[in-house]
Amino acid sequence: GIMDQLAGIRQLEKKLASFLGIDRCFIVAGDSDEQKKVIGSMGKLVDESLEALLPEGRNVIAVMGGTTMATVADCLTPHLAEKRELLFVPARGGLGESPQIQANNVSAKMALRTGGKHRALYVPEQLSEEAYEPLLKEPSIQKVISLIRNSDAVIHSVGDALEMAERRGMSAQVIAMLRRTHAVGEAFGYFFDEEGKIVYKIPRIGLQLEDLTKMECVIAVAGGFSKSKAIAAYMKHAPRQTCLVTDAGAANSILKK
Ligand code: BG6
Repeated sequence: GIMDQLAGIRQLEKKLASFLGIDRCFIVAGDSDEQKKVIGSMGKLVDESLEALLPEGRNVIAVMGGTTMATVADCLTPHLAEKRELLFVPARGGLGESPQIQANNVSAKMALRTGGKHRALYVPEQLSEEAYEPLLKEPSIQKVISLIRNSDAVIHSVGDALEMAERRGMSAQVIAMLRRTHAVGEAFGYFFDEEGKIVYKIPRIGLQLEDLTKMECVIAVAGGFSKSKAIAAYMKHAPRQTCLVTDAGAANSILKK
């Protein structure tokens, strides 16, 4: 019956969390590769998890971009900001995503949905490394960066390495290097091989991977059979307090290995 099914899922969640070496996993039914509505189910779970995990009072929440995160934003509800003051910020700027799925947009949408506030990070998406340097010295940008790097919570996704590199129009040289180093996963603009080793990092401002260790609440949202390798690779690097929200398609494939 349904109770046995639920107990089965709870067991699978425990097994996956311990396999990945993180505190918690939630698994929704289905495979988001095949059905887009599965991403919506993950989004609802993120909303519920935030309700359970965020303390009352002020919370600064850094969020990443991507298609998963854009859908998650649509699933957040006003009850989150009832007893809380929420401030959403983009975790990193300038990764080269198209406007609709940029972190700035996702954080603005989350603020709108919950009744919270947001702060944008105004840096162009396509900018050379040299052009980035002086921007870092701007007081207005420094303020937002300090909010980001000291935020209370982070919500992000994980992507397939080569898919992300191509979507962001990274150079043929970098793509060849990612192939050579067997990059399989990407998160926060960092690329990982199957062992979880960082093989490349897009030199951009905002949250750095080491900032995650001190954050109370880290939620990773990623599903689909096609992302299983990427998820497993990044989780070798993820901080212990990470809560992974995924689907059966990814979970079963990760545990089969
Ligand atoms: C990007 C994030 O915007 O989205 C990445 O910066 C993430 O860290 C990626 O891996 C995932 O994208 P999608 O579209 O598969 O959700």
